[in-house]
Amino acid sequence: MSALTARVRGRSIITRLAVRDRAWERRMQRGLEEVETRLQECVREADDPRLSEVVGHLIAAGGKRLRPLLTLLGAEFGAPRAVGVVEAAVVAELIHTASLHHDDVMDEALIRHGVTSVNARWGNTVAVRSGNWLLAKAAQLSAGLTTEAVPIQAEASERLVQGQLRELVGPALPEDRLPHYFDVIADKSASLLSLSLRLGAAQAGAPASVGEALAEYGEHLGVAFQISDDLIDIASPSADLGKEQGKDLAVGVAGLPVLLVLDGAWPGDDELRGLLSDPGGLRGERHLRALALLQRSPAMERAGRIMDERLAGARSALAALPPGPPRRALDALCDFVATRTA
Ligand code: FPP
Ligand code: MG
Repeated sequence: MSALTARVRGRSIITRLAVRDRAWERRMQRGLEEVETRLQECVREADDPRLSEVVGHLIAAGGKRLRPLLTLLGAEFGAPRAVGVVEAAVVAELIHTASLHHDDVMDEALIRHGVTSVNARWGNTVAVRSGNWLLAKAAQLSAGLTTEAVPIQAEASERLVQGQLRELVGPALPEDRLPHYFDVIADKSASLLSLSLRLGAAQAGAPASVGEALAEYGEHLGVAFQISDDLIDIASPSADLGKEQGKDLAVGVAGLPVLLVLDGAWPGDDELRGLLSDPGGLRGERHLRALALLQRSPAMERAGRIMDERLAGARSALAALPPGPPRRALDALCDFVATRTA
């Protein structure tokens, strides 16, 4: 086994999904290894080794490879070995990495995937430009795929940027905070999970009805995934997260538990509401105090229930798909999102 293969095997989530079909899991694992090899090639295609180092920094650091896995799973409902399926999975991961370059600039993040973030290491300008390079690379690869790939990729890129812009602009009225939050996360998170699945299904020639069911599943899963991100940002220590704990609070971005506290009327949350009403973000002692109060707040459980409702929506979308290991894997991914701690 090569060092690369060992590294990919070590972190793959496919082995954590209760699919109970070893041969199928091995085939998916091989697909993910091909994606990894192709990702490394893309990085090397940057025409200067110094540029390759920057664009390859987060890719080499790892990550769950959830989006390429979704593309491979989408392809399972058509001809999984069709030409371009691996390339489609690479497109999904490149767009995701591009969005992280940009997101870490906006959030002033210092750590991503357990390593120094691109912005912290090379500065904001390099982080943004290299993010643009990754997005351009994804567009270039999409152009060589099925004719549906470019519109799918373009739509997701638009929604990603739109979601981030909406988050920046904020809700028009304070009482719109919750619907605004759900619009933002549908665009900035769910769009890419949905794209990943649809891209795989389209490239493998799956029926349109499959693409529609996968899109619906992906939208629900993506919203649930972002809520789980909000929860673990508050509940998990930095060492587990591979990024800083409570970063949203520090930069004044309100996740779902924060919004529920601001909108809710739980007794004893007055101190927390006071801290969270500070629009500039929280630092030092105030940050630690808000984190501790949030961890004990009923808003965490309430946010968990909302996440579960979205996961139920994702599972019911699966009913339209043929039974078998890919559908079981998508179902198990809902459990993964519900129980993840990093
Ligand atoms: C993580 O959010 C970030 C995203 C889900 C998407 C960010 C999208 C952009 C910055 C728009 C630009 C996109 C492209 C393709 C150029 P988070 O901050 O809530 O999560 P985190 O805790 O992992 O940082
Ligand atoms: Mg962020």
